[in-house]
Amino acid sequence: MVIRPYVMEVPLAAQGLRGEQRVEDLTLRGRDAAAMSAMASGHAVPQFVVDDKDRPQPTRGIHWAIAHSSTMVAGVTSVEPVAIDVERIRPRADYQIAGAMDAEELDILGGDAVNAYFCAWVAKEAVLKLAGVGLPGLSRCRIKKAWSDHAVVSFDGIDYPVTFAFFSGHVAAVTGRPELVQWTFLPEDSDAELTPPRGGAVLF
Ligand SMILES: CC(C)(COP(=O)(O)OP(=O)(O)OC[C@H]1O[C@@H](n2cnc3c(N)ncnc32)[C@H](O)[C@@H]1OP(=O)(O)O)[C@@H](O)C(=O)NCCC(=O)NCCS
Repeated sequence: MVIRPYVMEVPLAAQGLRGEQRVEDLTLRGRDAAAMSAMASGHAVPQFVVDDKDRPQPTRGIHWAIAHSSTMVAGVTSVEPVAIDVERIRPRADYQIAGAMDAEELDILGGDAVNAYFCAWVAKEAVLKLAGVGLPGLSRCRIKKAWSDHAVVSFDGIDYPVTFAFFSGHVAAVTGRPELVQWTFLPEDSDAELTPPRGGAVLF
């Protein structure tokens, strides 16, 4: 079972959007990325059903997940539960770094503290989305092991493998073992051959 996350740059014109328009645009772009992942994986494009807490719900056995920063979106589908996160790597204050990981986790991740911060952040956020709890669970999440492109995150006593990728000043993490993950990055000027159908959210 290969997991094929798609990561797409947000065009400059769209980065200028504000308020609700911006939120809606990023959601649709994330869903476009998930639809591309579905098509590349031979899955049916999800109907993008969400529950009352905005958690993605599977349709016809296909799970999906999206994430967006103001400059990059990511989407993925899988036959098993899956979650994803993406962040732009940017300066962080010491208190922010300390809020996302402790000294032991920094040591496990190694290297530059800001890079380690964003790796810890996307890895933990992906796992917390998979668990459906979101950031309120942050303090129960720990980086247990890490390598250059993957990590093991424990949450409430369960270990979750997470795989990283770095694109144009951003880091993304998807839940799943690295040997199963094949990333696709679409920069702003790419001519994506796959044009997914756009659908609205279905609430239940
Ligand atoms: C889920 C969460 C981590 C997302 O973080 P973010 O940086 O704002 O957003 P991201 O771009 O990474 O991901 C957004 C996507 O995650 C998904 N998502 C939203 N809430 C989710 C949840 N609780 N669990 C799993 N996935 C979730 C949605 O698909 C969402 O896309 P959309 O906003 O376009 O609909 C964050 O919003 C959160 O912690 N939410 C829960 C807060 C909560 O329940 N608080 C309780 C007290 S009010």
